[in-house]
Parts: sequence; structure tokens; C-alpha cells
Amino acid sequence: MASNRFVAFAIVAVVLPTFAMATEYFVGDDEGWKVGVNYSEWANGKVFRVGDKLVFKYGSPHNVYKVDGNGFKECKPSGDVYNNGNDTFILSEQGKKWYICGVNDHCEKGQKLVINVESDGSEPVPAPVPAPTPPKPAPVPASTPPPTQTPPSNDSYRIISSCYQIFVAAVVAMAVAAF
Ligand SMILES: *[C@@H]1O[C@H](CO)[C@@H](O)[C@H](O)[C@H]1NC(C)=O
Ligand SMILES: *[C@@H]1O[C@H](CO)[C@@H](O)[C@H](O)[C@H]1NC(C)=O
Ligand SMILES: *[C@@H]1O[C@H](CO)[C@@H](O)[C@H](O)[C@H]1NC(C)=O
Repeated sequence: MASNRFVAFAIVAVVLPTFAMATEYFVGDDEGWKVGVNYSEWANGKVFRVGDKLVFKYGSPHNVYKVDGNGFKECKPSGDVYNNGNDTFILSEQGKKWYICGVNDHCEKGQKLVINVESDGSEPVPAPVPAPTPPKPAPVPASTPPPTQTPPSNDSYRIISSCYQIFVAAVVAMAVAAF
């Protein structure tokens, strides 16, 4: 009962923050997606994480292309066009993501966005894995000498003492026999 409740709590504790921390970013905030907004300024200081959403809101002349670094630099649209005016991208993996408007020279005029998506924070958990490696060499030399050191001293003590007992017993026996 108690352990079931604990497991349920643990699951909630692990899963809940993942949802709670997902953020929906409206590109350009109230300005939306258009010519005349500095999108590097908009992105500046924001932390985008895996699981967050990027929403492009805009009116009729514009659209969105998700391009690569080159397409961003050269304002070259490629791939699918998104043009419903409320285009939502779920940031599903880490790394740089580039978005441009493919209409006329809008991209050249600055209607382009580059962001860097960071880990959702659940990934630092594997980090402690390298830690167990260094302690490994320590137990090997540490545990090997004690077993070899301790038994001999005890064993030899035991052997010596039992030899002594036999010797004493023999002396006693001889003494008894002498009478
Ligand atoms: C946009 O803002 C950044 C600073 O956040 C600045 O370096 C850059 O020159 C600006 N771009 C334009 C086109 O004004
Ligand atoms: C726009 O997309 C967002 C995110 O998917 C959604 O929450 C919102 O309801 C949409 N708005 C409209 C007007 O479609
Ligand atoms: C074995 O040796 C250790 C250290 O010399 C000693 O402390 C311990 O009492 C000994 N044990 C026996 C059973 O003689």
C-alpha cells in the first residue's frame, strides 16, 4: 500500500515537471511574425528546451519555412511551407533550429529566427555514470592485501599455539609416563 503510493508519487514527481515546465513561445510576442521585428532580440535571453512549443502567429502575406543553417544565412526557403497563420512547432530535439519567411525579401529584411534548443533537464541524470569508474581501482588493491595479511598472522598464531599445545601435551604425557 505504502510502497504503491510511493511509486505513484515518484512517477508523478518525475513526469509532472516535464509537462509543467514545457513552455509555449509566441514568436515576436504581441508583434507576431512579420517584417520589422528583430527576432534575435526576441530570442535573446529565452531558454528553449526540448518539449517547448514555438507558435508563429501572422497575417496573410507571410509564411514559415523550417530551414537549415545555410537556408537561414542565404534566405533560401526549402522543405514544407507552413502558412495557416498559427503554425506550431514542437521542439523535439536539441540543437539549433532555423525559421524564415519565404515571401519576397522578407527574410532579407529580418523576418528570420534562429534558436538553440537545450535539453529538457531530465538528461543530466546519466551524468553520475562516470563517477563509479574511479572508485573501482581502489577496492581492488585495498581488499586484496588484507585477506592475505590477516589470515597468515592469525593462522600462524593458531599453528604456533596449537604446536605449543601439542608440545605441552607431549611433555605432560611424557611426564605422566615417567612416573
Ligand atoms: C537585432 O538585435 C541585436 C541585439 O540583440 C543586434 O545585435 C542586431 O544588430 C539587431 N539586428 C538588426 C537588424 O537591427
Ligand atoms: C494556435 O495554436 C496554439 C498552439 O497549438 C493553440 O493553443 C491555439 O488555440 C491556436 N489558436 C488558434 C486561433 O487556432
Ligand atoms: C586475527 O588477527 C588480528 C590482527 O592481528 C586480531 O585482531 C584478531 O583478533 C585475530 N583473530 C583471531 C581469531 O585470532
